[in-house]
Amino acid sequence: RTSLGLMFTDAPQPNRGQDRRAEPEPYPSEFANAADTDPALPGNREWARAILARVPDSTLGDDLVERHTVAHPRDLEDQIAGAVAAAPSWGALTGADRAEILVRAAHSLEKHRGELLEVMASECGKTLDQADPEVTEAIDFALHYAELARELDEVDGARFQPVKLTLAVPPWNFPVAIPAGSTLAALAAGSSVIIKPAPQARRCGAIMVKALWEAGVPEDVLRLVNVGEDQLGRQLIADERVDRLILTGAFETAELFRSFRPDLPLFAETSGKNAIIVTPSADLDLAVKDVVYSAFGHAGQKCSAASLVILVGSVATSPRFRRQLLDAVRSLKVAWPSDPTAQMGPIIEPAQGKLLRGLTKLGPDETWLVRPEQLDETGRLWSPGVRDGVQPGSEYHLTEYFGPILGIMTAETLEEAIELQNAVDYGLTAGLHSLDPADIDLWLHKVQAGNAYVNRGITGAIVRRQPFGGWKKSAVGAGAKAGGPNYLVALGDWERAEAAV
Ligand code: ALA
Repeated sequence: RTSLGLMFTDAPQPNRGQDRRAEPEPYPSEFANAADTDPALPGNREWARAILARVPDSTLGDDLVERHTVAHPRDLEDQIAGAVAAAPSWGALTGADRAEILVRAAHSLEKHRGELLEVMASECGKTLDQADPEVTEAIDFALHYAELARELDEVDGARFQPVKLTLAVPPWNFPVAIPAGSTLAALAAGSSVIIKPAPQARRCGAIMVKALWEAGVPEDVLRLVNVGEDQLGRQLIADERVDRLILTGAFETAELFRSFRPDLPLFAETSGKNAIIVTPSADLDLAVKDVVYSAFGHAGQKCSAASLVILVGSVATSPRFRRQLLDAVRSLKVAWPSDPTAQMGPIIEPAQGKLLRGLTKLGPDETWLVRPEQLDETGRLWSPGVRDGVQPGSEYHLTEYFGPILGIMTAETLEEAIELQNAVDYGLTAGLHSLDPADIDLWLHKVQAGNAYVNRGITGAIVRRQPFGGWKKSAVGAGAKAGGPNYLVALGDWERAEAAV
């Protein structure tokens, strides 16, 4: 994001190289990807240190979470009925009018960047280098969906028909970017929104929503509703007045939600089991760097994370790649995010079940290249693990773990490696490291993944440039990609639109 991508665009980029202690400039309505915080500026390092000092005792957002917790069926009914009642006036605005509010939302998110970093570190354990690009991505979503909202005014001469109520059920692992993306898309498409943040990330959701309210999104149109996953949560998802459900979570969660209401149009981005292939023609230094970042960024808790690296031919048989990988992984500093030197932070809750098994038990023929260790009594801080000798069809090969573990597989040829990569039920992200155009060509024709990256890490899709979404069991429902051109149209009311033509 900070180097290659931005070098090639000539669009104006406000707040690039900005001292974050100063008031940010408003964003223009013309789209350009926003910029991450520049740590080269001494002022930004001071700003970041002040945020980290607040992290251990932070209670930011607690009051909002409490105020927007819904514990009784009649209060939930008020929220749903209120959102539906507010929808017609929001939906009657032109796309251009809503776009103007979204551009202001981008500015407001920028103004709240420091608060959002504080709450992501304190509530979800995100290190600042992982949290900062989330705010940038949320701003990108606002600006991109603003751009798409303006286009809605011109769809085939027919008026775009918004739905009344969209429910957003985001995850805890991207506790700002994904809630913001789902909410902003539905708002841009003219719908009222109820957002139910993940229980582990309610403060993050609250501060994000506050930023949108302050930008002029009406509070009756965008409703923050904290409900448990029990009876009330189920009642919300099953309610007939919900027109669209945007979910990011496990495949099983999407299936469960669908069972509550089979007729509800679902936009779900689900699980992944993602691999990067490294061929003999690869730039191995670059491959090691990208594999390590993709596997262990945010402690591997990304649906997009690399859980496997598949070594081909001489990369598999010579010790060089493994040696470099071992050194790189061992050098990672694991610490709580309030430590400014932390490169990998904690997992969201104490390791248990499948993840604990992945961190402690090997399959037949597997060995630890780097053995993970529990670093403190919380059960949340683990050093990264790398297991070698993962066998085709084994539990590790096919299962998503969502933690700081990477497995090594080997293949004699690229074709064989692609088969291993495609053998999983999911198809979210995939990577190839090769400098040979014939390899790249072959791989691009065969790989089964929504987001396929060549000579790049496989996490951190950039809004508009790399629309994000899955294939196979990594997507359930409509399948339109977030941050891409079809998303808003897909969120509209197709039946009414057809009737109006
Ligand atoms: N959009 C997130 C990524 O690309 C999940 O890593």
